[in-house]
This record gives sequence, structure tokens and C-alpha cells, in this order.
Amino acid sequence: MTKNIDWGSLSFKYQPTDYRVTASYEDGKWSELELTTDPTVHISECACVLQYAQTVFEGLKAYRTEDGKIVTFRPDLNAQRMIDSAVRLAMPPVPEDMFMKALDMLVKANADWVPPYGSGATLYIRPFIYGSGPMIGVAPAPSFEFRMMCMPVGPYFKEGIKPIVIKVSDFDRAAPHGTGNIKAGLNYAMSLYAGELAHAEGFAENMYLDAGTRTCVEETGGANFIFITKDGKVVTPKSHSDSILPSVTRRSLMVVASDVLGMETETREVKFEEVPEFAECGLCGTAAVISPVGKINDHGREIAFPSGMDEMGPTLKKLYDTLTGIQMGRIEGPEGWIHEIEL
Ligand code: PLP
Ligand code: COI
Repeated sequence: MTKNIDWGSLSFKYQPTDYRVTASYEDGKWSELELTTDPTVHISECACVLQYAQTVFEGLKAYRTEDGKIVTFRPDLNAQRMIDSAVRLAMPPVPEDMFMKALDMLVKANADWVPPYGSGATLYIRPFIYGSGPMIGVAPAPSFEFRMMCMPVGPYFKEGIKPIVIKVSDFDRAAPHGTGNIKAGLNYAMSLYAGELAHAEGFAENMYLDAGTRTCVEETGGANFIFITKDGKVVTPKSHSDSILPSVTRRSLMVVASDVLGMETETREVKFEEVPEFAECGLCGTAAVISPVGKINDHGREIAFPSGMDEMGPTLKKLYDTLTGIQMGRIEGPEGWIHEIEL
């Protein structure tokens, strides 16, 4: 039976559900996946994750379709990105078939927590691996844990699909050729102080420029950028220092724009100085979906997009409707994008 929750009033907040999936890595191999009801973890005080932040994670969602099925969106890309992240942090990757099995087990066990179709909420799934074994010299942990948990969530920004105002940060999120292109916990630790400052000043998020030259747009703390030019082209920034996370949402939107909607697309370096020329700006990600940006504050100078502060611009709206239509099964997407959970 679906849980009795006021789905429409959910925000993006942790809530333990009935089950999570776990596995341990010891002596060179992963154990069998297990379902557990225990939402706590018990690790050494000297665990490498606590001392040296050896942890990587993923984020994806499960959706309830109109005909009652439960589906996920391109989970193979999350599995592959977590492999890339784990390798970069000297951790044992979770193979794709193990990731997919954990996903199926987790969502099936928590099916009652998947928000109803049309409720505005979704089930957010958070897989992660961390160095659980003790390490005091700077080296990878001797043992690791993999966990996949989930929770029903509403919009990431309190504004929902209303435009937000962001600021240009004086801090950097990721070093050139560092770890910005993987989903490591340390990248988010790097953004916490800057995020708190932005919030205290009344901004929803930070725009980070490339750390090397501070001339090109990279991304925000938790989403990639997409821009719409005045002649309707979709543009997304490419990093010259490989420090942007390869967002599944952004990669999918670029395909939706070109192959489904027949729009022109460009993935290229975006100079900060050209930002005032764009007609629309949005943040895209699993949590953010597409969150429109109405204004960017650059040290007191305001860049206001012609799409305004009242609603999402027309081109982003078209992309939003098509992407969410595919994710919720209303629109047929490219082959292999939807993975149905067998109940
Ligand atoms: N960029 C950062 C830094 C993120 O944390 C996320 C969230 O996962 C994204 C971009 C968007 O990626 P995706 O669309 O795969 O969720
Ligand atoms: C996601 O969108 O899945 C993320 O991990 C972003 C995070 C800021 C919640």
C-alpha cells in the first residue's frame, strides 16, 4: 500500500524509508547484496571516509507512470559514472550488473514509497561507496561499503519551477584536472561554505567559473548549466580543464533538443562575458530537473535574462516538458532510456 504522505508538500529532504541495500568489499571482492532495515552505519573511528573523505556517490530517480509502473531513467549512465568516480578515488568500482541488481532490489522493496503519478514528487535514489576500513597514513582504505538508499522528494529549490537568482562565487568548486568531473563527496564539501554564504545573501546557488582562469562558466554546486540563445540554440558549457560533472540530465537534454525537438545544439566553452547575450538560462540535474535562472548577480552587477522572474522561458519549458514526459512514460524516448522495475 502506498504510504500515506502529503506528496505535494515534500521538499528535497532526507527521510529514511523501510529498506536500503548494502554490500561490503573485503579481500578483493564484493559480498552479496543484502536488504537491511537499519538506517545507521557502524564504522571505525579511523575509517578512510572520516579521515580523508574517500567517498563517491550517485543520484537518480524512480518515477511512477500513469499506468502504475515504476521506472528509472538511464541508470546505466549512473552505474558507469560511479565506476569512473570510484576508479579516480582509488576505490573498488561496483560493476554495472551489481548496481542494476541493487537498484531493482531497493526500489522493489520500497515500492510503497514511490510517489503517485502526477503528485509532483519522485523517489530519489542515492547509491554510494565509502572507505570504511581504518587508515591513518594517506592511502586508500583496506575495506569498503556500498549502500543504496532512497527517499521520496519534492523540488530541490523551494522556488520549484519558478526562476531563481544565483551569484557568481569567489570560491572554486573544483581544481583544473582535479575531481570536478566525478561525483566525489569532497567536491560537495568544497562547496558548503560558499553555498552557505550565497544563501545568507539571499541567493539560491552559486555559479562557479573555471578555477584556472575565472573566465569561463562551469557549473553550480549541484547542477550543470544550459543556455538558450536569442535565435533558439541550446548551448551547454564544456570545460577546458575537465572539471564539470558529466550530468546525465544535461547529456539527455542535448539529445532531446537535437533528435526529438529538432533544435540546434552546441557543447562548447562559454565565456562568462557572453552570458548577458543569452535569452534563457537553466540549471539541470537529477535533483534540479530544469530549474530556470532569472538573474545572476556578479558582485553587485545584475544579469537579468529576458525570460524574466515569473516563469520558465518558453524554450526551457519545451525541453522540461519533453524530458519529464519521457521520464514519466508519457512520451516515448530514445531506445534504452527507460528501465522498468519488475514488481
Ligand atoms: N553537477 C553537479 C555538481 C551535480 O552534483 C549534479 C547532480 O548529480 C549534476 C551536475 C547533474 O548531474 P545529473 O544530471 O547526472 O544528476
Ligand atoms: C543530484 O542531482 O542527484 C545530485 O546529486 C545533486 C545534489 C546537489 C543533490
